[in-house]
Amino acid sequence: MLEVTDLTVRYGPHMTALRRCTLACRASGVVAVLGSNGAGKTTLMRAISGVLDHHGGRIAQGRISFRGEVISGRDPAAIVAAGVVQVPEGRRVFTEMTVEDNLRAGAVRAGSRAVRAQAYERVYALFPVLAERRAQRASLLSGGEQQMLAIGRGLMSEPDLLLLDEPSLGLAPKMVAHIGRVISEIQEQGTAVLLVEQNAAMALSIAGHAYVMEAGSVVLEGSAAELEASDEVRASYLGDPHAYLGDPHAPEAAATHEGRSLSVWAS
Ligand SMILES: Nc1ncnc2c1ncn2[C@@H]1O[C@H](COP(=O)(O)OP(=O)(O)OP(=O)(O)O)[C@@H](O)[C@H]1O
Ligand SMILES: [Mg+2]
Repeated sequence: MLEVTDLTVRYGPHMTALRRCTLACRASGVVAVLGSNGAGKTTLMRAISGVLDHHGGRIAQGRISFRGEVISGRDPAAIVAAGVVQVPEGRRVFTEMTVEDNLRAGAVRAGSRAVRAQAYERVYALFPVLAERRAQRASLLSGGEQQMLAIGRGLMSEPDLLLLDEPSLGLAPKMVAHIGRVISEIQEQGTAVLLVEQNAAMALSIAGHAYVMEAGSVVLEGSAAELEASDEVRASYLGDPHAYLGDPHAPEAAATHEGRSLSVWAS
């Protein structure tokens, strides 16, 4: 359903953030993209959702297509209208607005009142805590609840493909597991998910297929089960449950990761 082909992205004249990346998502299921800090995961999401411009980036080579139509080069609103919605990194919600108003702001894809009511219902069923707190300001929610709200807002446009950028970042293990379960449920309801994560264990537990990125390139790809069983992925991402890069509690793991290069997955 989504095809990213040979994609090269640059920021300014000197920074190449993606180098000839190729990956695909089917119409259903979760596809995970793993990789350490600076690997290019967010850049990939920005390219797909059409917001590179806002960050001083541009596609230098390659293309992105969705349901057989080229979407690279289209503006972000057209990409949302085509059915691709991104929930950006850092759970940006409108903190001064109520939970319900945040959700309303997400319902940008044209739809009848009945369709919109259904979208609210779906979000409130997935996240009952948001229903309970619908009249409260978003600033009063916990970090985990704000992440739920950010995902819920993305779902209000009833996307066919939901792009999630590090939904577990900075959350306690229990909340990470909860978010993982909800992502599975979203997928079971028929919305495909492209999930960027540094928490490889969570991502691989719910994904069907996964890619590993390093320094702007896709260096490994396989079924989630294959990657989970791969020595390289185990050593680099799964060995110690806290050894994911970027985890402030595992500075040694992050340090030893420096300079490591993965070889291409041989299936
Ligand atoms: N707006 C920007 N302008 C210039 N360089 C950028 C910009 N955004 C990202 N980069 C650079 O592009 C590379 C890829 O960054 P990106 O944010 O895509 O990585 P990431 O895999 O999402 O990392 P993280 O895990 O830290 O979120 C990095 O070297 C980063 O410094
Ligand atoms: Mg990122």
